[in-house]
Amino acid sequence: MTGERREFREACQAARLEGRTVAFVPTMGSLHEGHLSLMAAARKEMAFAAVSIFVNPLQFGPAEDLAAYPRDLDRDLERCQKEGVDLVFTPDADEMYPAGRPEVTVDPGPVGDRLEGASRPGHFRGVCTVVAKLLGLVGACRAYFGEKDAQQLFIVRRMVRDLDLPIQVVGCPTVREPDGLAMSSRNTYLSGQERRAATCLYESLARAAWLVEGGERDARVLQAEMAKRIGAEPLAGLDYVAVVDEDSFEDVGRIRGSARALVAARFGEARLIDNLLMRPSD
Ligand code: PAJ
Repeated sequence: MTGERREFREACQAARLEGRTVAFVPTMGSLHEGHLSLMAAARKEMAFAAVSIFVNPLQFGPAEDLAAYPRDLDRDLERCQKEGVDLVFTPDADEMYPAGRPEVTVDPGPVGDRLEGASRPGHFRGVCTVVAKLLGLVGACRAYFGEKDAQQLFIVRRMVRDLDLPIQVVGCPTVREPDGLAMSSRNTYLSGQERRAATCLYESLARAAWLVEGGERDARVLQAEMAKRIGAEPLAGLDYVAVVDEDSFEDVGRIRGSARALVAARFGEARLIDNLLMRPSD
């Protein structure tokens, strides 16, 4: 483990000089099975597996849960060790941002203003800026991101392409609880009742995918069905439902190629998001 940028950079560089591929998993800690699945994927093929744990203040809005965000470094380090991670980078905010908020930041582009970006202004600028910094420290690597945050994955892929970063982005499937709820560090905010209510997110997505399988192609119908399922849950405060094209992240009217259904809703203190890829058979 190291909290120092210089040490982290040098260890990644040394691994590359030994001929190993560096496989990097950026996280905000409070690690769960979803994070562990990224580490398991990263560890493959004798790669040097590096994980960062940093709750990035830049991607939280002023009214968001930065102070309350769950932190448990000892448990996280144990989990990383169990997963066979070679190096964990655990900087504090002063180490990552020694001059305070950076003046030069990464513009996430137009997709960064939509959906999560519309609900959380500045969020994706904060994500892109910290991910660019972390990738700058790691250097050439494979970097692992979860489909759970599909818009983040889309924007990071785009950033890597548009800025020619020497990174191969690997997307990994969403890990779910047995009842379908996507694993998330924020699930710890849920009361028992809210936890039961939160299954409506996955149920709404599964219903949309089922309708597409049955031939429904009108995105408005799918959105209305998703909103109806979430609206039927008294503890859920719907933020958005959307259906976007998998290749552009633009809203679609009719489903032609692969499309992704996305939902966001509040359950008490927790704001949760989820999504599901829908592939029409024709
Ligand atoms: P965090 O929410 O900790 O997530 C770290 C990585 O784990 C992300 O790529 C996320 O998509 C993935 N992940 C989370 N839950 C998952 C699940 N249920 N199944 C599969 N993967 C899952 O995302 C962030 O941190 C930050 O924005 C970060 C990229 C670290 C930048 O600060």
